[in-house]
Amino acid sequence: MVQRVEHTLSKAVLDLSDLEHLLGSQGDDREQVLAKAAEVARAHVGDAVRLRGLIEYSNRCRKNCCYCGIRSGNGKVVRYEIDPEGVLKIAREAWDRGYGSVVLQSGERIDKAFIMTIDRLVREMMSFSGGKIRITLSCGEQDRETYLRWFESGALRYLLRFESSDPDLYHRIHPQDGTHSYAHRIMAIRNLKQIGYLTGSGMMIGLPGQTLSHLAGDLMLLKQLQVDMVGMGPYIEHPDTPLYSLRDHLQSAQQRFRMSVLAIAVLRLHMPHINIAASTALDALDPAGREKALAAGANVLMPNLTPACYRENYFLYKDKPWLIEADELVSKVAAGRRLHWK
Ligand code: 5AD
Ligand code: SF4
Repeated sequence: MVQRVEHTLSKAVLDLSDLEHLLGSQGDDREQVLAKAAEVARAHVGDAVRLRGLIEYSNRCRKNCCYCGIRSGNGKVVRYEIDPEGVLKIAREAWDRGYGSVVLQSGERIDKAFIMTIDRLVREMMSFSGGKIRITLSCGEQDRETYLRWFESGALRYLLRFESSDPDLYHRIHPQDGTHSYAHRIMAIRNLKQIGYLTGSGMMIGLPGQTLSHLAGDLMLLKQLQVDMVGMGPYIEHPDTPLYSLRDHLQSAQQRFRMSVLAIAVLRLHMPHINIAASTALDALDPAGREKALAAGANVLMPNLTPACYRENYFLYKDKPWLIEADELVSKVAAGRRLHWK
């Protein structure tokens, strides 16, 4: 017998098959899931949208992920690194404009110079804000010692997506070049948690070969890892990447978009208290993408503060809507919502 969506929505705890059932809902059932998620979000995290200013520090990356536009093997990308003074200027201006929370994002590097620069940036941001600015780092997979160093310097949050909870799928979307191991990735997320970071993770939605059962497994893993925040969004094919060759096997852009919004709603039901980002990739597929995500249970928005001259080189996927300026974005996407600048 087919289980009704009302029945699944009434459960206090959702198991793997419940998650799969909700992720597969269509029509009125889907609308019910979205409405329930909005209600649960209001009750558990309130109706405010949390703002985090995003600074894309550098697009240099040592990795060659098969889906990513700034992969090391993409020779078409002009590589940049904003000098530390420039990053601090952006951060200080953001702080002065009211951003109590910033995200410092970069391609992955593990050399000493990189580690020490990030460390210095964290310290100086803490210093100019009297220790008050809340810093999120998104600088890839690092050893425990590095995570600890940055934490002790003042970083509060860290974002590291697991991309897919299915080890086979994980290995299919990453090159076998010795820099990718599913087990290491999960260990890195556990290290972050254990050190004391507010830890964020997530995955891409609509990857070639990804099933509803994989996605349900992703949501189970997020709960198992006890993440505090989630960033997940649609996979968007990029012409200068190996995964582009599988573009004819993808679900349509609209299906990937709809599945991403639904996954946000189902995650809100599964983990009512966490912070869930309305990811930028959503806007690449639908002009009102992030608004729809915020209406379906997401509560975090990351306006891009990277100066326009760098942004065109930070295309992880095509159609990244970088032209929308941060202020404009906030007034458009979070219209009518209370804003939380911390
Ligand atoms: N489509 C969607 N998301 C992507 N990312 C990288 N490449 C793509 C793409 N082609 C996401 C990954 C990574 C984050 C920084 O960006 O999930 O963790
Ligand atoms: Fe580098 Fe991250 Fe892109 Fe992978 S997804 S190539 S680690 S920037």
